Amino acid sequence: EKDGYDWFMRKEIFEQPRAVTDALLGRHTESGRLQLDEVRMSEEELRDVDRIVIIGCGTANYAGLVAKYAVEHWTRIPCEVELAHEFRYRDPILTRNTLVVAISQSGETADTLMAIRHARAQNAKVLAICNTNGSTIPRESDAVIYTHAGPEIGVASTKGFMTQMVACYLLGLYLAQVRGTMYGDEIGAVVAELGRIPGHVQGELDKSPEVYELAAALAERPAVLFLGRHAGFPIALEGALKLKELAYIHAEGFAAGELKHGPIALVEQGLPIFCIVPPRGRDQLHDKMVSAIQEVRARGARTIVLAEEGDTEVLPSSAVRWRRCSATTWTSRATWPSPSRSSERRGRRVIVGVGIDVVGVDRFAETLE
Ligand code: M6R
Repeated sequence: EKDGYDWFMRKEIFEQPRAVTDALLGRHTESGRLQLDEVRMSEEELRDVDRIVIIGCGTANYAGLVAKYAVEHWTRIPCEVELAHEFRYRDPILTRNTLVVAISQSGETADTLMAIRHARAQNAKVLAICNTNGSTIPRESDAVIYTHAGPEIGVASTKGFMTQMVACYLLGLYLAQVRGTMYGDEIGAVVAELGRIPGHVQGELDKSPEVYELAAALAERPAVLFLGRHAGFPIALEGALKLKELAYIHAEGFAAGELKHGPIALVEQGLPIFCIVPPRGRDQLHDKMVSAIQEVRARGARTIVLAEEGDTEVLPSSAVRWRRCSATTWTSRATWPSPSRSSERRGRRVIVGVGIDVVGVDRFAETLE
């Protein structure tokens, strides 16, 4: 049932706060321990893991790429991410201490299924992150974390992606707990941050009319780029994928550091570029993204910046009016000249928040020391 929405995908986008809440439900006990009941692997087995290989296709692969930064940081276990359809046709080096994490919303993607069979044949342990209870991939895995997003009928993954990232983060924290690479209060602090995501996402969903206005401005563009760094890079890839499959617009995601190694050649007057900017401070990533933004603006690109609320360093000029937004730590904004000529004359700019996919970046960046 579409519950009054015109499309399943729109319904599922609006279900994201609830989906994330459900993905987190019952994971953190009052004693402060994280519990993942469905992970049917002993703590001893998890302590022995010396390498993690995350596999999946499309969006699931991007969720894995986002998670890699946090999982390695928290657990100190080397973690690599590979497309399942590439993995299944090569001869990977796997041992009984390799944990293969298979991400799949449907639990039925043939390449991912074949990839886990390939891994298990070489004695690797397989843990599935899946949304569909009783589907083939979790049934053929050693362990499973269900994402509890509820049915995802829309072809484009939305709440599925969001909850896959959350499940990966929970897995990373759980491994850190078992292996003692994080203290209980550190884990609790991250879980508490994850618990604030539904509120942040709802704040972004409440800005939908402005997002529609931005979408209208983009509709006639032949191409759109997405730029990010660190966990913002796979978010850029996912953003480009969404635009391709839903709007049939040619879209590419790049790591901002790659710009000068070729892709800058694509940047021309008027090209829309989504720029995913991590929060200020803590490391150099923010400033690096700001210089990438300046570089593409100098070549005439129209930037749509997703940044922390109040981050004035990403502004193109002091003339831009900022709309007061709710006090979320991660309020994404975008500047875009209005498609209407009369409003252009008034110098009006559309300020948009579209941070749904980006919350994970912020949540992780806040844990970096
Ligand atoms: O069901 P799965 O997660 O295994 O599906 C994998 C991909 O086909 C899927 O993530 C696809 O890329 C998205 N639906 C695109 O939005």
